[in-house]
Amino acid sequence: MDAMFVMGLALVITGICVKGTAASCSPGDYRVVDLSHNLDRNSLSFPFNVSFELSILFRGLEPEGYWFELNKISTLEHMGTHLDAPGHTFKGSWRVHQIPVDRLVGPGVVIDVRAQVAKNSDYRLSVLDIERWERLYGAIPNGAIVFMWSGWDVRYPDKFLTFNSITPGNISTFHFPGFHPDAVRWLLRYRNISMIGVDTPSTDYGQSKNLEVHQLTGGANVMGLENVNNLCQVPPSGATIVVPPMKVFDGSGVPVRILALVDKAGQPSRRCPDCTLGGRRPYPY
Ligand SMILES: *[C@@H]1O[C@H](CO)[C@@H](O)[C@H](O)[C@H]1NC(C)=O
Ligand SMILES: *[C@@H]1O[C@H](CO)[C@@H](O)[C@H](O)[C@H]1NC(C)=O
Ligand SMILES: *[C@@H]1O[C@H](CO)[C@@H](O)[C@H](O)[C@H]1NC(C)=O
Repeated sequence: MDAMFVMGLALVITGICVKGTAASCSPGDYRVVDLSHNLDRNSLSFPFNVSFELSILFRGLEPEGYWFELNKISTLEHMGTHLDAPGHTFKGSWRVHQIPVDRLVGPGVVIDVRAQVAKNSDYRLSVLDIERWERLYGAIPNGAIVFMWSGWDVRYPDKFLTFNSITPGNISTFHFPGFHPDAVRWLLRYRNISMIGVDTPSTDYGQSKNLEVHQLTGGANVMGLENVNNLCQVPPSGATIVVPPMKVFDGSGVPVRILALVDKAGQPSRRCPDCTLGGRRPYPY
């Protein structure tokens, strides 16, 4: 290990513990939560219906006697748990390789809208929801990654449940929650955020006709995260979110592994049976 690497690592680890005491600044003091779904043939893509493929080029014993595996993968950029680059929906905004790395790590903000969504699957996270969160946890911090937690991840990858439609080939029949454009305008105007994320297929709700939320975030060089998993294990405030996408040159988006670093000394994690209201699988349609 070279000295620069060790120094870099030390900086990263210290960064995680911004709010902690010196004693909490060691790697063992945080839990790492996986916020991504598997990428496989069942992965859902939107708006185009193309499947993820892994083809085996070689899997077996080499003549020299060692095991060897090599595959080729093929995917739509906007597949499964993925990042939307701002350039996806706004001409001239950042493409994947242009996103500054300091925008790929930030404080996590998890806004719970499960109760609203249980009553209305076309629900859109509102300014009121943000204000309610801020009354409990303070102003949304600089560089925040703001998640809508609707409980939708338990439906994934069932396409009927995820798109909430009996005809998932027809996008105008989709009914799932997202951000309200007014809430996004508020965040862009009054706060300094790096990304918004949802546990549904799109930051715009299923009935959106013009992807207004995408247009707004794209125009402000704010990234989107879609089909996020396991938000039930992330506290409303205090986690650090790490989103390192592959550095695809000129990409409009890319599947991504999202990690939440949760301080063990902080808020205890929620238990997974509590992820959906009543702990049941949601009733379809
Ligand atoms: C916004 O947040 C980023 C990340 O924390 C920070 O580097 C930048 O200085 C902030 N900008 C303003 C205007 O506060
Ligand atoms: C995608 O296409 C496949 C094969 O053409 C089809 O079986 C599947 O139902 C389609 N999925 C959606 C969500 O339209
Ligand atoms: C898609 O769904 C909409 C709304 O239900 C309907 O009006 C339209 O005819 C459907 N399109 C197709 C091609 O089935």
